[in-house]
Order: sequence, then structure tokens, then C-alpha cells
Amino acid sequence: MINTIRGRNLLSLDHLSDRAILEVLDTAELFVEVNQRTMKKVPALKGRVVASLFYEESTRTRLSFETAAKRLSADVLSLAVASSSVKKGESLRDTIATIDALGIDAVVLRHQSSGAAHQVSDYVPHVRVINAGDGLHQHPTQGLLDVFTVRQVLAERVHARGPETGRELFLDLHVLIVGDIRHSRVARSDVAAYSALGAQVRVAGPGTLLPASLDGWPVTVADDFDDALEWADVVCVLRLQRERGTGSFVPSLAEFTRTYGLTTERARRLRDGALILHPGPMNRGVEIDSAVADSGAAVIERQVTNGVPIRMATLYLTISGSPEEDAA
Ligand code: CP
Repeated sequence: MINTIRGRNLLSLDHLSDRAILEVLDTAELFVEVNQRTMKKVPALKGRVVASLFYEESTRTRLSFETAAKRLSADVLSLAVASSSVKKGESLRDTIATIDALGIDAVVLRHQSSGAAHQVSDYVPHVRVINAGDGLHQHPTQGLLDVFTVRQVLAERVHARGPETGRELFLDLHVLIVGDIRHSRVARSDVAAYSALGAQVRVAGPGTLLPASLDGWPVTVADDFDDALEWADVVCVLRLQRERGTGSFVPSLAEFTRTYGLTTERARRLRDGALILHPGPMNRGVEIDSAVADSGAAVIERQVTNGVPIRMATLYLTISGSPEEDAA
């Protein structure tokens, strides 16, 4: 188990302890206040350089990482992959070596291949690598911002907002993750984060959209989606990833919506106070009805807002700390 991300890469949440996750959430809580100021900037990473490399499309993750780096006073090198020498066939290794030659402290990488962030960490061991989503593997900062959002809302309800509010809010919390689990890196990171904090996690979806094996996943499979909705305190709705061929895993989108979509009618089964999350981008009318996404139970915009403090905390801890300092 890893007990801190200080001075380390953040490639996955799989081996992070509850202590490591809470350290990120507590650090992000401090940065929430910075983001509410008129002057939203602190000098924490002044003089440091963060490279932003997105080989796959992104709105939320890219903008919030770049905003986070700038609010920490770091310089940002943002590579527009579509108009870069990648289009002339330059390899990932040579691209990273080229950016490294300009002098960087960290690289934020989104890539379509599972394991790409790990590969980059081997190419530039002196640079901190933060995985912003790699293929079907992991999306660690999404998992962190999801548990941060749930903790924030639950803490507000018990008037105990702040770093002192930790693991106890998650103990025995019922979390239901529904949809395309098979192709979802968010599901993998969410399962790791919620279960490390002590929540009970169930997954629901058509058999074809569940992983071939759930061995090693600390989850149970919901036999009945409607019953699971009555059980859940938190429902994480996943996107049907049509760009990864999800369409061919279900007979039709209409049938998926009928059986596993969070429709207005189904949302009525939820307990009072249950929260609805979606990492975005949403397919409104497919995995979630528009009215449900815009309802008071949904905290989807808050997830986006929280992306900035969580990514500020991630950049700050990975770049400024070192495991040796932490041990000392
Ligand atoms: N949730 C998420 O990763 O969204 P983007 O693809 O817009 O970054």
C-alpha cells in the first residue's frame, strides 16, 4: 500500500491507502478557499513547469489541470497533439523526450492506450507523471474528485466541513456504479477510491458491459438494478462509450436505456438524500434522463468545479514533496 503521493507519480488509485487518499482530499479542501478568492493564485509551484499532453479528447480534465497548474503559479506547456509532430509519426517516447529537453517537472498525460502513463514514467523517471486517463485502465483524479464531492456534500449535511471530516463519512456508505463498467477507467478508479475509504460498492449493467472477470474487484454485482437503486446512497452513472464500440455490446441504445438508464421514473426509487454523479460528458437521454441530470440530487456540476482543487492538490503533492521528505 502507498501511504502518500508526495513526490510520486499518480498512475492509478489501486494501491493507494485511505491515508493517501485523505491526504489529497484534505489538501484539496485547502485549495477550495483559494478558488473562491478574487485573486485565485498562490505561489506554491512558482518556477515549476507542467506539460499537458492530451492524445485523446477532453474538456473537463484538460481545462481543470491547466487551470490548477496556473493557480499554483506553475508554467504550463500545452501540446496540441492534433497539430504537433505526433501527426508526422513521432513516437510517444520521442515526444516525451523532446518535451523533457525543454525542462519540465511534471507531465499530465491522457492517452488511448492502457498503460501509457506507466510507460512514460519509465522514459522520464526524474519527471512526475500524472495519469489523466489511459485507455480502459484508470482515471485517478476523476476517482479522487468523485469521493471529494461526496465527502463535501455529506460533510455539509452534518455541519462538519473541513479537513477533520474523513473516513467516517464513507463507512458503510452504499455506492452503486451503473452502466458501461467494462470500458470505464472511471469505474476502476472509483471502485478503488470508494472501497479504500470503507464504502460498499455494487456494480450494475448488462452482462456484456461488465468486465470478463471481476476477480480482485472489491464489489458485488447487483442482480436487480431497480432494487439496487433503493439500496444506494450514491449512484455513479457512467457514460456509454460509443467511441470505444459500446454500441455493439448492447442490442440498441433504446434497450440499454430501458434496462439500465437512470430515467425519471427509476430515479423516484432513490432514497431521500441520495446523490447522483456522472463524470461527463453525458449522453442525455441514453444513460441518464436530462431531468435527472438537472435535478437537485445530481452533483454533476459540483464534480466539475471540484476538479480544480483536486488537481491543484495532486500537482502540489506529487511535484513538491518527496517520499524521503515524507519519511523524515
Ligand atoms: N470526465 C472526464 O474525464 O471528462 P473529459 O473527457 O471532458 O476530460
